[in-house]
Amino acid sequence: MMVFRGLDGYTDGLCGNFLAKENVMGIKVPDQVMFIKNNQAVQKQSTVLSTGKICVITGATSGVGYQAAAALAAKGATLVLVARNEAKVQAVKQEFEQLYGNPVDYVLADFTDLDQVKAAGAEILQRYPRIDVLINSAGIYTTKKSYNHEGIELVFCVNHMAAFVLTQLLKERLIASAPARIIQINSEGHRFNGLNTNDLNWHKRIYTGLRGYGAAKTAQLLTVWQFATELNGTGVTINAMHPGAVKTNIGENNGRLYRWFLHHVTWKFLQDPKVAGEAIYYLATAPELAETTGKFFNLTIEEKPAKHAYNINKQRIMWEKSLAIGGFQSEIKTQLK
Ligand SMILES: NC(=O)c1ccc[n+]([C@@H]2O[C@H](COP(=O)([O-])OP(=O)(O)OC[C@H]3O[C@@H](n4cnc5c(N)ncnc54)[C@H](OP(=O)(O)O)[C@@H]3O)[C@@H](O)[C@H]2O)c1
Repeated sequence: MMVFRGLDGYTDGLCGNFLAKENVMGIKVPDQVMFIKNNQAVQKQSTVLSTGKICVITGATSGVGYQAAAALAAKGATLVLVARNEAKVQAVKQEFEQLYGNPVDYVLADFTDLDQVKAAGAEILQRYPRIDVLINSAGIYTTKKSYNHEGIELVFCVNHMAAFVLTQLLKERLIASAPARIIQINSEGHRFNGLNTNDLNWHKRIYTGLRGYGAAKTAQLLTVWQFATELNGTGVTINAMHPGAVKTNIGENNGRLYRWFLHHVTWKFLQDPKVAGEAIYYLATAPELAETTGKFFNLTIEEKPAKHAYNINKQRIMWEKSLAIGGFQSEIKTQLK
């Protein structure tokens, strides 16, 4: 029996136990379902300190991003949080400063509006001459499609485009601060795919939550490989990771029935989000990953993403479309000359 999460991916649940046992009996688990086994594996840890490191984190007011921020602050990092809700980010700032004693700064931006993401990026560049770590964790899952003022579908906008734009904007500062690391919080949900580069905004197809989410996460993975190529030799690494199937607030924006199922069924199968924070800390600091770039991790374990996330043609198209949607057209022209 497999238990589906019904929100942003799937939980391993009973199926994970079954596969783990099969592996013990010597039957090889195929690459495409290794995620079930990896999710249950003993995870790696980093004990390296982060004293004085400047870490920019999105989505730190809740769940995965909050736990990553807590782990970094606990080990001495200075945090720069990018959030949409000032009251929530103020509370996180106060909590962490009191608990850990390091400065926590924040910049406001709603990621459904790419102009706000750009303004936040510009503000960070103005305030911070050095950036050591960028973690893009902000994300949403919606069962119904909706659009921003530019007509961009919101799951695609928040989960992929906002992270892409912020990474583009901070890239040169990270290079100037090298060694530096970028971590895109992706998902095993990319396996649901749904990406059609001719219909990024779902005008021609029926939208479902899983496919919309899978499309956004696939789009992000396709651009991670290209970022890694661009950053090669700069001392800046970029990797994507699945933060586990963890109990957070994702999906709380959906309808009553969905939320009932989330609270009464799905949550029972999910892990404490602290595992996500520890895994992200490992990816952000482990000395053995200093040169590792362009990879996908399930928590701390390197894993092969789904085949469609490697499609070379989609990789090129998605890179160019992301630049264009993000308003980086001049960069395309420069590249094409
Ligand atoms: N939970 C899981 O099992 C799981 C599994 C795989 C991948 N992920 C990924 O993990 C990441 C974090 O999700 P989570 O589970 O931690 O969910 P969460 O608890 O709902 O946290 C999401 C974060 O994103 C922020 N955010 C949402 N919409 C935003 C917007 N329009 N502008 C700016 N910030 C926005 C939220 O801010 P507010 O606090 O203001 O709402 C919050 O800080 C996502 O990328 C998600 O896809 C999660």
